[in-house]
Amino acid sequence: MSDALLPDFVQPESGSLKLLHISDLHFGIPYVQSVGEAALRIAPLLKPDAVIISGDLTQRARREQFLAAKEFLLQLPKVPQLVIPGNHDVPLYRLSERWNNPHRLYQEIISEELNPVLRMEKAMIVGLDSTAPRTAISNGRIHKWQLDACEEHFRDVPADVARIVIAHHHFAPAPDYLRDSIMPQAKRSMERFVDLHVDMVLGGHLHRAFIGNSLDFYSGLHRDRGIICVQCGTTTSRRGRGREREKNSLNLIEIGRQFISIVHYIFFHETGEFQATSQHTFRRQTFIPEGKLTRQPLHFDSQQNPATHLDAQF
Ligand SMILES: [Fe+2]
Ligand SMILES: [Fe+2]
Repeated sequence: MSDALLPDFVQPESGSLKLLHISDLHFGIPYVQSVGEAALRIAPLLKPDAVIISGDLTQRARREQFLAAKEFLLQLPKVPQLVIPGNHDVPLYRLSERWNNPHRLYQEIISEELNPVLRMEKAMIVGLDSTAPRTAISNGRIHKWQLDACEEHFRDVPADVARIVIAHHHFAPAPDYLRDSIMPQAKRSMERFVDLHVDMVLGGHLHRAFIGNSLDFYSGLHRDRGIICVQCGTTTSRRGRGREREKNSLNLIEIGRQFISIVHYIFFHETGEFQATSQHTFRRQTFIPEGKLTRQPLHFDSQQNPATHLDAQF
C-alpha cells in the first residue's frame, strides 16, 4: 500500500467500542499468578466497554478451579462480561459427570447460560458453546440449532451495529505448522455467518494469538465479504503453544464506525507486564463513504479499493 493511502485509511475514531478479549485462563496447575496479576493490572488501563472470555477458565473443571476463576473475573473492570465454556471446563476424567451433566459446575459457579448474548449499542455479541463433552471433547462442535439461534439474534440488528460471534474452538486453521484440527463442519458455520453478515469471530483454544480471515480458507460463496477471525492465546497459563510457547496474550478490539482494530498484547517477563506488540486494522465492510450504511456487499473498483487489512508492528 502506498503511503498516500494511509492517512485516509486509518484515522483515530472517537467513541469506538472497546472489547477486552481474554482466553484460556486454565486455573489450576497451569495458571501463573504473576501473569494473572499483570492481566488484572492492564485491564482497567485499557478502559474496555465489555470483557470477552473465550473459554477454558479451568484446567480440569474442578470446583476450586472454577471458584478461583470466578474470583479473577470479579476483579476485572466492572463492565459487562460475556463468558463461554471451553473443553477444559467439562470434566475429562470424571466420566459419569461428563456424560450426564458436564457443565454442572460451570453453570453453578460461572454462568448458567452456555450460549450468552450481549447486546450493546454498537455491537451484538453472540456467544456459542462449542464444547462437545460426549462426542468431540477436543475439537468441539457447533450445532445447527445454535446457528439458527444466531440468525434470530442478528435478525433485527441495525446495519451499523457490529455482529460478533464468540466460540472457544476455532473455525479456521492457524497460520503455522502445528496442524491443529479445526472444528468438524466449521465451513458450514462460517458460510452461515457470512450469510448473517457477521463481522468478526473470536476464539481461543489454540493458545496463540493471530488474525485470520474467512476468505483465506472459504473463499467460494462471498468473495467480496470476509469475516475477521480473532484468536487469543492463553492469557494467564503456561500452556502457550507455537510462537507463544511460555508466553501469554490478550487482545484489545476497537470497533469504530469505519474501522475495526485489534491489538495483540503479549506478556514480557522482562517487564512483568503485558505490552502491545501488533495492531491489525480492517475497514468495516458496512461503511460507505457517503455516510450511508448498508449490509449489501460492497463492490469497489480495484483501482480505488485499498487493501482491507493493515498490519503494523510496534
Ligand atoms: Fe485452553
Ligand atoms: Fe481448549
